[in-house]
This record gives sequence, structure tokens and C-alpha cells, in this order.
Amino acid sequence: MCGIIGFVGCEEAAPILLDGLERMEYRGYDSAGIAVRSETKGLQVKKCKGRLKVLSELTHGGADLEGTLGIGHTRWATHGEPNDINAHPHISENGQIALVHNGIIENYLEIKEHLMKLGVTFTSDTDSEVVAQLLEFHYNECHNMLEAVGRVLRRIEGSYALGIVCSDYPNALIAARKDSPLIIGYGENGNFIASDVTAIIKHTRDVVYMGDGEIAVLTADSVDVFDDEMVPLEKKHSTVDWDVSAAEKGGYAHFMFKEIMEQPEAIRKTISPRIREGRVVLDDVSVTAEYVQDISRIFIIACGSSYHVGMVSKYNWERLLRRPVQVDLASEFRYSDPLVDEHSLVVVISQSGETLDTMAAMREAKRRGARTLAIVNVVGSSIAREADDVLYTWAGPEIAVATTKAYSTQLVLMDLIGLYLADLLGTVEKSEYDDILVEVQALPEKMQSFLDHFEDVQYFASRYFNHNSIFFIGRNLDYAMGLEGSLKLKEISYIHSEAYASGELKHGTISLIEPGTLVVALGTYAALFDKAMSNVVEVKARGAEVLAVTTKSFQEKMEKTADSTIVVPDTHPILQPSLGVVPLQLFAYYVALQRGCDIDKPRNLAKSVTVE
Ligand code: AGP
Repeated sequence: MCGIIGFVGCEEAAPILLDGLERMEYRGYDSAGIAVRSETKGLQVKKCKGRLKVLSELTHGGADLEGTLGIGHTRWATHGEPNDINAHPHISENGQIALVHNGIIENYLEIKEHLMKLGVTFTSDTDSEVVAQLLEFHYNECHNMLEAVGRVLRRIEGSYALGIVCSDYPNALIAARKDSPLIIGYGENGNFIASDVTAIIKHTRDVVYMGDGEIAVLTADSVDVFDDEMVPLEKKHSTVDWDVSAAEKGGYAHFMFKEIMEQPEAIRKTISPRIREGRVVLDDVSVTAEYVQDISRIFIIACGSSYHVGMVSKYNWERLLRRPVQVDLASEFRYSDPLVDEHSLVVVISQSGETLDTMAAMREAKRRGARTLAIVNVVGSSIAREADDVLYTWAGPEIAVATTKAYSTQLVLMDLIGLYLADLLGTVEKSEYDDILVEVQALPEKMQSFLDHFEDVQYFASRYFNHNSIFFIGRNLDYAMGLEGSLKLKEISYIHSEAYASGELKHGTISLIEPGTLVVALGTYAALFDKAMSNVVEVKARGAEVLAVTTKSFQEKMEKTADSTIVVPDTHPILQPSLGVVPLQLFAYYVALQRGCDIDKPRNLAKSVTVE
């Protein structure tokens, strides 16, 4: 997704902007640009299609652009193809206003037509340029930039995070947001705006999260924030508590690999503050036993891998709570006229906390009276701020587009919540509660023991990387886990892959199995292991090559039938996906490596999907 950075201070802006943009590269982009203003040279803009390296070369590392006030942008095309002209910043017709924009202006065509009738000439195909031209139009009318920004914001519809520089305001950076993240950073040598904390963490941890409808004016030594009526606001400061090294590769070849290896620690950080004296403690959630008794249905809503966490949790929560749990894709839920009311608990899961569909689904659920609980990794993100309750996964910054440690921490946090709710409902035996909790606490160590010796996964990846189509099969929790394994493989290796509930094979899919087809058979769910084995035998009989993932307990049985077997440690059945998914992440990683793919920045994908 697009990235924004802005700086105003007493250092040269261009190198700071380029560095900030580089730190947001992981979000995905197709073009980049910066605009810097100086007394002598006025507004200077450089932008181009392609990687930041090109922009950096074009500007000699920023040295060509003089000035201590500027804005930068990485663009992920929505309106208009990726090219130099459509790249941001966009400049108003008279060259006096430069603007960067994240989000989508829904009524841009109508405004564009109106301005064109008034004689304004447009150069790009973007919705964002419309904002720059409209701003100039209003500024020419009122000669007051803040007033002009206010008029523009009242006219445009859609989502936006905006960074604005105007020649007439040599010391001010203006920012505004609605439904697209934007933070303000307070530095020693100046102040910042950014769409992502990683862009400015090197300079400051003192940040303010801008709210919807807010406008900010930054100078080198002041920051003023206003609401949409231009009433000044007192904003609460937050401290970013992770270190800059957390967002760097630290010697690893890829962020994805680093993040896979960080999983035991991320799980430890997520669970340890929430387990005290043998009980699950959720300090931030204020639910009573009466409230939980009154819930008639639980909805889990998310997208992508977060949705797959929901799939695992559906099985686990229904088993623990004996209550109906429905998992919905956020993009479907929001338009489905959902049967949600004040007796529904709606749990939304989102690593970024900015996924537009998930946010819209949550708002829809709230509108219908449901209570919402958000599981989020990014502190202060939009979903975290709007949910009734929020529980953070403490995975630290996740940079690779393909999620690993965020998925694992979401999974274990959902297990803790399930246990907590079951305890309130009285639907879990004390002995089982205790067993699960002991095993939750043992997960980091067990996961580490697997991560210390995964050479076989690497070997199997080198053996199977040239398959063009790979099937993942499994039952119950193994099926839910297979969905994630298949998505990991698809997104970074570009191999076609499907995950099926094993029992569904003979209802159609088995016709696709032919001699040599690779089937990844998941057999970690003890209760259905024998059924899973029958399906392995079925695909073997049709000539499939079977790579199996199973537990130590079932290793011997599995090895008799499968061609290759990966073994993970045993744990309590409901926690088994937490261990089983690790070889699937590593398999996807090494297959993608063998195929020479851009692992951290897979084609066409973005880290957080802030558009519909
Ligand atoms: C998974 O590897 C993907 N990056 C993607 O499916 C992701 O999980 C999805 O876009 C949801 O993102 P969120 O958790 O930030 O809402």
C-alpha cells in the first residue's frame, strides 16, 4: 500500500524522506517521489516509476533537492497505471502546492469534471491530483491555506491521509486524515508525519495518532492539531516501545525468515502478561459471566491469514464454549446484511489494524448493536481505536508481506480468549483448562526445538519446488491450518495451490490428482488421524507424491504411507496448529527461495490493504 512521510525541521529533508520511504518499502509500491521546499529554489519535485533506488539515483541520494521541509510518497496504483506522471507528490496547476495522498477519493471524477469546466488542466489519471487542484482552487478564493484545506475536506468523499506543502507557507507541513492511518512524530531536530511508524522510528518514538477528520499543522518546533471544525485539540502522546532494530533484517537474508525465527519469543511476549497464577487474565477486556451467558452467537471476522486464524478458532471455541461460532470474510460480511445484534460478540482479527474491509465489517457490526473485540498487532491503529475492547498481539513490527509471527500470536491469543470465555461459561473442566494452559506456556520452547532443526523442510523444498500445482489436505484443525499453508505458498512462490478438507476430495477435487501431483497431507489432529490416513492412501493410489506433516506420536504410522514426512512436537490437540504451521511457513519460504522470488515483497501484494 502507499506510504507517506513528511518532515519539517532544521536538517535537510530529502535524505530523511528517502530513508523513511525505504523503511516502508515492505508495504509494496510501484513508484515513488519527494517534494522539498527551500527559500532559494522554491518547490522541487522528483518522482518516478519503479524502485526507490531509481529515485535515489535520480536525486543523488536527495542531495539535489535543497530544503528542510518536504513530503515523500510510495505509490501502489489504484487510479491510473504506475508511471512517472501518476506518481506522487502531485502539484497544483500553478506549481505552488505539492501533495501526497493515501486512500481513495470516491467523488474525484465529479470534482475533476467541475474543475476542468473552470479551465483547470490535469496532468495525471489519479484521484489524488484532484485534491491538489481543488486545494489550489479554494486557496485562490480565500488565500488562507487552513481554510482552503477545510473546504477541500468538506468536498471530497472517501478515505485519505494527506501531506501538503505550499510555497506560500515556507515553514509549515499540513496533514489531514480520514480512514487511512497517519501519525505525527515529535523529533529533536524537527517534526514528522508518516503513515507507518517504521518510517520515523529512527528519529523518534514520541508519536500522536491522528484521528478521523483531524487536521495538523507542523513546523520545526510546533505541532497544532484541529478537529474538522478547526477547534484546537489536546492530543495524547504515545511512546513506540519497540526498537529500530526490530524493523531491520539484523543479518537475516529476508524479513520473512527473521520473523519465522522470532515466533517463539513473540508468543512468549503475547501470553506471559496474560497468564497469572494458573489463570488466564485479560486485563483489557471487561466482560462478565452474565454478559457471556447472554451471547447467542460469536462472529469472527477477518481477511487472509487473520481469517485463517478465525477458522482454527471456530473449531476450538465451539469445542470449548459450546456456543455457535461463525467465521466470516470481512469483505463478504460487510455486504451480507448480517444477522448481528446486541446478543452477538464480534471478534475482529487484524495484524495491521488498518484493513479496510475488516474495519468496515466491524463498524457494521457495531451499528447493529454488537459488542466488538479486536485482536490487533499495531498499537493505536484504526481498528484498535474503534473497537469496544482491544487485545494486542505483542509480535513486534512485522515487515514481510507474508505474515508469520503475527499469525502465530493471533492464534495463541485466540486460544487464551477461548479458554477465558469457557471458564466464565463453566464449559471447560478444570483439568482440561489446566492442561491447555500448561501446554500454551510450553509452546515457545517446543516451537524453538523445531526451529533448531528444520533441515528436512529445506531439503523437501529443494525436492518439490518445481511443482506447478500443490494441494494441501487435512481434517478439522488440519484443514484450517492447510488454508494458511496454501496461502503462504501461493503468495510468495506463485505456485498454484489449494487447500481442501480431506473429506471433500471425493466430491470433486480428486479428479485433479494424477501421477506426480504433490499433496501436502496434514495429519496432526489426533482425533481424526486415522481418517486423514485413509485420504492419504486414496491420493497415493492415484499416483500422488505425498509430503506429510504429523506429530511425534503418529510419525511411525505416517512414514509407512507418505513419501516424505515432517514431524512436529506433540501438544494439546487444540494448540497443535501453532506448531504444525511452522513447517508450512518454512516450506513456502524455501520453495520461494529456490524459485528466485522476491520473498519479502511478493508481486501485486501489499502489507496492509487499506482499500476495498
Ligand atoms: C498473509 O500473509 C497476508 N499478508 C494477508 O492475507 C493478510 O493476513 C490480510 O491482508 C489481513 O491483514 P490484516 O491482518 O492486517 O488485517
